[in-house]
Amino acid sequence: MTILTISASLSKTSRSRVLARAAHKMVEKSAAGARWLDLREHALPFCDAGAAYGDDAVGTVKTMLAEADGFIVATPVYNFSVNSALKNLLELTGDAWEDKVAGFLCAAGGASSYMSIMGFANSLMLDFRTVIVPRFVYANGSDFDRERIVNPEIERRTDGLAREVASLAAAVKTIRAEANAL
Ligand SMILES: Cc1cc2nc3c(=O)[nH]c(=O)nc-3n(C[C@H](O)[C@H](O)[C@H](O)COP(=O)(O)O)c2cc1C
Repeated sequence: MTILTISASLSKTSRSRVLARAAHKMVEKSAAGARWLDLREHALPFCDAGAAYGDDAVGTVKTMLAEADGFIVATPVYNFSVNSALKNLLELTGDAWEDKVAGFLCAAGGASSYMSIMGFANSLMLDFRTVIVPRFVYANGSDFDRERIVNPEIERRTDGLAREVASLAAAVKTIRAEANAL
């Protein structure tokens, strides 16, 4: 069982990456295999519904997604949505998300954009039957001191989300295997 933590921010000083690292460490302590994907480390082309699918970097990240049973997705909130790098990742990798589990960690500038994840989550649910963990972490600037989470509630929720993605991914994997064996 493998959980892939995806850090979607392209910012050098990303706060969502701080959340992603904390969640990834929690998965490392669990029985699940922990893998890490930072979009800053992969020069992905924009999805053009054509040649981009054959790009080497797309192949690399798609394999990482395909090999995972669950995803912890850390994203910046941009314009009341996820950032375009994350949406582009989904456009490029589509069915690698299918029948798996996803949970979200969000970093925002203010307190009012807390439903920003919904468009992305809806697409995962409706297009790819991804099971969405019905709890997520939403943090803003006051929850961090540079590279450190200073709000214990955010730490607690991040650990809880990581554990929940891992246990739900294991359960979904078993259920899907049983269903496929019928
Ligand atoms: C282009 C852009 C759009 C943004 N839109 C929002 C927004 O709609 N709501 C919000 O609360 N913060 C918004 N912010 C603030 C970011 O969510 C905040 O800086 C966050 O820390 C970014 O995540 P990161 O640090 O992981 O890159 C925006 C920032 C940028 C650069």
